[in-house]
Amino acid sequence: MDYHDVLAAFGVGSAHPGGFTGTTFWMDRLQLSVGSQVLEVGSGTGRTACALSERFGVKVIGVDIRQEMVDKARKRAQMMSLDPDFILLDRSDILPFPDQSFDLVVAESVTVFNQIEALVSEYYRVLRRPGHVIDTEMAATSSLPPEVLLEVKELYGAMTVPTLKEWKSIYMAAGFEPVQSIVSGPAREVDLQSEEHDGMAIVSPQAFSKEASAIVDHHFNFMSDKGKWFQYGVFQAVK
Ligand SMILES: C[S@@+](CC[C@H](N)C(=O)[O-])C[C@H]1O[C@@H](n2cnc3c(N)ncnc32)[C@H](O)[C@@H]1O
Repeated sequence: MDYHDVLAAFGVGSAHPGGFTGTTFWMDRLQLSVGSQVLEVGSGTGRTACALSERFGVKVIGVDIRQEMVDKARKRAQMMSLDPDFILLDRSDILPFPDQSFDLVVAESVTVFNQIEALVSEYYRVLRRPGHVIDTEMAATSSLPPEVLLEVKELYGAMTVPTLKEWKSIYMAAGFEPVQSIVSGPAREVDLQSEEHDGMAIVSPQAFSKEASAIVDHHFNFMSDKGKWFQYGVFQAVK
């Protein structure tokens, strides 16, 4: 079991810095015409994908590499009588869609856990022109000391955590222009147990295992000791 399995077990609806409040912030500023095609990468339990579908009446496809997340996202859509599709991916580096398939790509606390440049290039490839990405990611406040980075790798599985400036540069290097950070702030802890007003979180029995408790404790201790090294940014990158 790792941190991401714990998120899946708790069925956390907004497992990203800023939480659903942060999602609502960028969604309030989003203009999407009916007929737009939206891809959410790392859609987790489907809360954002369902909110996009409900609010804008657009077609949303959510993809995730974890079966439990996809199952819970499908259940959520069913309970809300919404029609996003949730697809299980068998690899994390390639999005199984033709070039220029979508008008908007959304990622919330996903890119950082991957080969960042490769995944950002995939976002670019599957976007139409004009199209854009909204990506909410953890960012380092400055270059991380080796012991902090080591713990990030062990606990979250992220190989690196770019600063806000580095995130912008990565998006620009992939061809996006302009790239702006529409909001940033201190990395708010993901509250694994409160659901942040998500009445539809489906909690699995594994969430109450000793292993899960140890990971939750590690996460909270790490954030309390080392949280000053982290912030988050919501990036809007235009193709
Ligand atoms: C921290 S969780 C965030 C989930 C969701 N975006 C949210 O905010 O609640 C990261 C999610 O991304 C998924 N994931 C990580 N890398 C992925 C990839 N390359 N493609 C698709 N899903 C990925 C994980 O399985 C997990 O569900």
